[in-house]
Amino acid sequence: MDKHYLNRLLTSEEITSIVKKLADQISRDYVGKELILVCILKGAFMFLSDLVRYLKIPVKIDFVRLASYGSGMKTSGRIEITKDIELPIEGKDVLIVEDIIDSGHTLQFLKDRTILSNPRSVKICALLDKKARREVEMEVDYLGIDVEDVFIVGYGIDFNENYRHLPEIYYVTPIHHSKG
Ligand code: IMP
Ligand code: MG
Repeated sequence: MDKHYLNRLLTSEEITSIVKKLADQISRDYVGKELILVCILKGAFMFLSDLVRYLKIPVKIDFVRLASYGSGMKTSGRIEITKDIELPIEGKDVLIVEDIIDSGHTLQFLKDRTILSNPRSVKICALLDKKARREVEMEVDYLGIDVEDVFIVGYGIDFNENYRHLPEIYYVTPIHHSKG
């Protein structure tokens, strides 16, 4: 995509209310548990940092970074971990925090791999979900909102590493130039 518009999808206020609602649900469900939040870098960094501020329970935080092969806008089948979870998660309750789900391959890979370390539970929290594009079965335990099949940027989410810093969420549309 060359020249493109950013069309606002969610304001800061709307994002805050979605994130607070998720934080309330998580706070209720994990009372008395040993919860470890695993944030998928880089896209979920802003979501995680807001989410933890609204939680009413103590948690530990860790990060993973995944590389997927295939370029730009689509996740291909092959995924690798480039930065692994560092905290011991055996016997603990793990909640994976993701920005946006598309095909579901990334989360399926990470969830399956996390289970190998024998945590007490592994669940998934995602801010946005493009359900229509799912290629593998992937249940989201805590979902912000469903979105159409559009390309999202802002609030940590990038387009070729651009726009992560924006506090609001946008979808990208191409600018079509008419000739003559
Ligand atoms: P999946 O493995 O196809 O579910 O893709 C999930 C990953 O692709 C997310 O972690 C995002 O990094 C990226 N992704 C999916 N949809 C978008 C989008 O609309 N904008 C930016 N990145 C996206
Ligand atoms: Mg991501």
